[in-house]
Amino acid sequence: MRIGAQRIWNQSTPAAKALIGSYSFAVVSGVFLVFLATIAAVADESQPKFVGSSSCAAAACHGGLSGNKLVGSEFPLWAARDPHARAYSALHSGLAKQMATWLKLSNKTAHESVECLSCHSQATATKESKSAGHAPLASVDCEQCHGAAELWLTPHRRKNWKQLSPDVKQRLGFKNLSDVLTRATLCTDCHVGSAGRDVNHDLLAAGHPRLNFELSTFHANWPKHWPRKTDESKHPVSKTNPNDPTGSLFEAKLWAIGQIVTAQRSLELLSHRAASVQTWPEFAEWNCVACHHDLESKNWWQLPDRQKQPRNALSWNSWPSAMLEPLAQQTIGTVFRGSASPISGTLRLRHRFTTLLSPPKNIATEADAAAKSLHAWAEQLNGADAAQQLLSPDALKSLRHLLVTKEGQQLAARDWDSATQVFLSINALRYAEKAARGSLDSTEEAQIQVMLDSMRKSLDFQDGYRGPRQSELRQLDTLLSTPP
Ligand code: HEC
Ligand code: HEC
Ligand code: HEC
Ligand code: HEC
Repeated sequence: MRIGAQRIWNQSTPAAKALIGSYSFAVVSGVFLVFLATIAAVADESQPKFVGSSSCAAAACHGGLSGNKLVGSEFPLWAARDPHARAYSALHSGLAKQMATWLKLSNKTAHESVECLSCHSQATATKESKSAGHAPLASVDCEQCHGAAELWLTPHRRKNWKQLSPDVKQRLGFKNLSDVLTRATLCTDCHVGSAGRDVNHDLLAAGHPRLNFELSTFHANWPKHWPRKTDESKHPVSKTNPNDPTGSLFEAKLWAIGQIVTAQRSLELLSHRAASVQTWPEFAEWNCVACHHDLESKNWWQLPDRQKQPRNALSWNSWPSAMLEPLAQQTIGTVFRGSASPISGTLRLRHRFTTLLSPPKNIATEADAAAKSLHAWAEQLNGADAAQQLLSPDALKSLRHLLVTKEGQQLAARDWDSATQVFLSINALRYAEKAARGSLDSTEEAQIQVMLDSMRKSLDFQDGYRGPRQSELRQLDTLLSTPP
């Protein structure tokens, strides 16, 4: 096990390291120490504080019980149906207790450990609020998503709040979650991980579910506390007629930007992991089945894939970046593998991962650069003009075709991760095209459904999925050889 003080140190943010680093330097000069303290105070003030979500629950605010109406009932809806309301109590479960024991979490329980609270609650809440005599703030609550409320709590109750621009609200710490890129970045903070929030191989081996995040799928499964129409109407297909009830690009943007941002955040996490030289190599970066597969001869994993490559070779975990090539092929054209393409850095890293020899420092630098290119691409697709052009209903249709024909077959033959991404993406693109056009041909939709049903069976995509060992993929190869 590579957990304990060393790992916590490795996981602390660069800012925290810089502070501790400069402290030992500041001891030399008292003047410099005062200077540092002033900077720290200013920096601290610019970070608005959490006020606690219980203040949202008043009946006249978000705590009303108005039957089927969503507006005004956000708090009870969240408390009763949103999985995020259970995130803190999950740290009291049997599985969490097992993890705490196996991980030797600095001799603490899971619900006291920053390694777990960082995603399941407010990371710093326990220490600070305990010393202030308050109970720790529990779970992923309103402020975790909408932003710390210290500065916006009072203004947002005023009549003129709705007239304020997203920029002005943002400056008060209120996140603009209508923006798909902002929303995707929020979800991936915890569902992919980020510096200081890491479901690494230690956690996986202790029993933590693997974080296989796909934004469209998670967003669809998430019980929402606002009307679906709000999302749709803010991303119309036609700019000239924003009130057009048919035609929304929201689902299309959610899929495309979700895929890119998931890859971007994974690269940032990779950079962080590789920079922590003591704990590198981090096993969770590699293809799980390279090391984990059933000990039987002629297992699907041991057979070569379509390109006659062994499936169990040591290679990069393909989940986060599997969909980048089809998406780039559709939106950038034939030069999508070229050096000017936003995915070229990611493709180069994939090649590096076929060998263990690259120095971690180089991996970290390359991963940072690759993440930046992906971010710029996500920003481009997030703009209304580009989305209307590149994610048009026809573009979505040809993307879906790409996935059920050549490109999809190659991806599905690669490994379970890529195959499952193809499955989830065909489904997401079906809904995206339907939302963009307003409707979809019923025969075509039925055909897609038949295909997805059999794919799902062969992917053995079951609840409580813990490791790829349980999967049975032999059927899939045959299935995708005969696409509808
Ligand atoms: C990077 C963020 C992150 C960190 C760090 C993290 N978790 Fe989680 N955890 C999640 C997410 C996200 C899920 C939901 C998984 C899913 O369905 O994709 C989850 C799920 C779980 C579950 C299953 C919950 C259920 O309802 O079945 C348990 C138990 C759990 N985590 C415990 C822990 C413990 C204990 C730690 C610390 C050792 C920890 N987690 C650290 C993000 C995190
Ligand atoms: C996991 C993240 C998450 C959590 C937790 C969460 N929200 Fe939201 N909330 C969202 C997103 C995303 C939207 C859609 C935002 C938009 O379209 O501007 C939203 C929308 C809303 C809206 C409607 C805003 C509008 O302009 O239509 C209200 C009100 C709201 N949330 C209140 C709450 C309250 C109160 C809580 C706590 C009980 C809460 N939210 C918890 C993510 C979250
Ligand atoms: C602060 C961290 C955090 C953020 C931000 C966050 N989540 Fe979660 N999410 C979690 C944790 C932790 C769980 C596991 C809760 C449990 O089961 O105990 C979870 C669970 C879920 C689940 C249920 C998964 C399952 O397997 O049942 C969905 C769906 C989900 N989140 C969607 C989203 C979406 C969409 C966003 C962005 C709008 C988001 N989350 C933002 C931490 C977060
Ligand atoms: C380089 C080889 C390697 C890779 C890649 C790897 N593991 Fe492991 N894994 C191991 C070893 C060795 C152990 C046993 C030692 C330990 O518990 O850390 C293990 C243990 C485990 C365990 C606990 C024991 C068990 O069999 O139930 C789980 C769960 C697990 N790994 C999941 C994963 C997942 C999920 C991935 C992909 C994200 C992965 N591993 C990638 C080598 C690897």
